[in-house]
Amino acid sequence: MSAHHDANGHMEHERAGEAERAMARLLELDAEVLAPHLAELTALLARRVAPGPARILDLGSGPGTGSLALARQFPAAHVTAVDISAQLVHRLQKQAAARGVADRISTVEANVNGPWTKISEKGPFDLIWAASFIHHVSDPARTFTRAFGQLRPGGLIAVTEMDFFPRFLPEDTGAGRPGLEARLHQATNTQPPHEWTGPLADAGFVVEERRPFEIRLDNSQAGPAVNAYAHLSLAKLRSHATDVLEADDLAVLDALLDETQPQSIARRDDLSVRATRTAWLARRP
Ligand SMILES: C[S@@+](CC[C@H](N)C(=O)[O-])C[C@H]1O[C@@H](n2cnc3c(N)ncnc32)[C@H](O)[C@@H]1O
Repeated sequence: MSAHHDANGHMEHERAGEAERAMARLLELDAEVLAPHLAELTALLARRVAPGPARILDLGSGPGTGSLALARQFPAAHVTAVDISAQLVHRLQKQAAARGVADRISTVEANVNGPWTKISEKGPFDLIWAASFIHHVSDPARTFTRAFGQLRPGGLIAVTEMDFFPRFLPEDTGAGRPGLEARLHQATNTQPPHEWTGPLADAGFVVEERRPFEIRLDNSQAGPAVNAYAHLSLAKLRSHATDVLEADDLAVLDALLDETQPQSIARRDDLSVRATRTAWLARRP
């Protein structure tokens, strides 16, 4: 390989690493700001998995916000967190150590589309958690069938999906035309919603509940991390908006993302959170 290729390869590697760090930060901010929602979800599981799961599998764990929340909710449980990214697995290990639960969370760096040998060594499981993950796999039907095989009879799978990025801005930001964020979402949210009821049933699960959550947090409920979360989310959407938003909206959005501007998202005290999520709870009979 030439030095030129080496340099390019290195740059690509760096960029991929940077993108993963940004995604991890976004997911961690999401868990911090939407902590009441995460707590509601894990409490719902506690009512469904009595007397309490001993073994939990977190598929596509990312930086581990789900693993950590489950370890907190179920103090007697051991969580196996699986992710394809070495960087995210490492980040989760550091977080688990910092919170004193490293002995109750083990990590498996693996591609869920490939063999499940390393995963099955940790099973069978009482609870499987797959948050914002199933839409990433190459074959959801096969993934559900394999998850079914890793659950003990009576065990539960909890699948969650976000419909899209939350909304944060007021209708009128004080700059430009009202409704900027709605137009930004309309222009960039082009994927149909994920629907897992049928594929779960096809894999043999009994779908006990499909629950949509309409999450509404005002500025005080969302807490101080909302500014960083809104900034990162809107910057991500801005990166997809160049060709799909009008020039005046793009200029206002750029000003809102500019931390030196008085109306910057980083400084505003009128941000709130409006998000829609769906959870499917399904049992292996
Ligand atoms: C949107 S993130 C969700 C992370 C976490 N569940 C959460 O809710 O914060 C999706 C995760 O799936 C992982 N992932 C994607 N494809 C994968 C695969 N084939 N096998 C294992 N992990 C995968 C990514 O590395 C990423 O951490």
